[in-house]
Amino acid sequence: MPQQKGAAKPVRTDEERVKVGIVGFDELVFGGLIPGNLTLVTGTTGTGKTIFGAQFIYNGAQMGQPGVYVSFEEPPENIKANVRKFGMDFESLEKAGKVAFARYDPYHVEDVYELIESSVKKIGAKRVVIDSVAALGLYIRDPAELRRMIFNIALLLRKLGCTAIITTEMLPGQRSLSRFGVEEFVSDAIIVLYYTRTDSQFARAITVWKMRGSEHTNKVHPYRITSEGIVVYPKEEAFVKFD
Ligand SMILES: Nc1ncnc2c1ncn2[C@@H]1O[C@H](COP(=O)(O)OP(=O)(O)O)[C@@H](O)[C@H]1O
Ligand SMILES: [Mg+2]
Repeated sequence: MPQQKGAAKPVRTDEERVKVGIVGFDELVFGGLIPGNLTLVTGTTGTGKTIFGAQFIYNGAQMGQPGVYVSFEEPPENIKANVRKFGMDFESLEKAGKVAFARYDPYHVEDVYELIESSVKKIGAKRVVIDSVAALGLYIRDPAELRRMIFNIALLLRKLGCTAIITTEMLPGQRSLSRFGVEEFVSDAIIVLYYTRTDSQFARAITVWKMRGSEHTNKVHPYRITSEGIVVYPKEEAFVKFD
């Protein structure tokens, strides 16, 4: 039967998904992210958001999808050096034109759109990571202006047609999923990384808070940061305390 004009086409098969490639993760989201969608990865500091973003770009480049990593926080050299211990050699991918790192310059706030667009076009990127929009708050004090900028970055990422991840930082004990209360509204999907206390120790756990147009896990699963980077255990459930 021909597809009805205007009817939303459910994206269900594995081939149509953009694989994050983190062990165990894609199972939580029915095979991967939806092409062209914007996903928010949120969590408190140290939960592994930067490692998550780096794995998304690194794995994509290995699968023939060039990627751009835009850092608002750490200098690209630090990120590359930190993730090298997880076996990610970004230098060779950069040389091969499969990956580009862009460092945001706080003295040229308005150039951020140009920075993203030109980096994407230069290597024909299919994947983009913006890490983290929370760091924008260091440079832009006016909350309205900050929200407008996050909104416009999301619009630009959609226009460019890339499958994108933006990260933001939750404060410990905070109820809201994002720092500025706007990140979750501009995103199609939300991944939450938790670092919570069990009785005598802290444990890492991940869930998919929402994912437009897709089935996804409704459970909380354990994950670890190993020598291979993040590893998710999709068949296991985590019992976390939210206090
Ligand atoms: N080699 C490693 N083995 C296990 N865990 C590590 C290793 N290196 C870093 N980590 C963990 O990763 C965390 C940092 O991850 P990162 O992605 O920078 O967090 P975020 O961006 O969410 O602040 C550290 O707090 C540490 O717990
Ligand atoms: Mg980080």
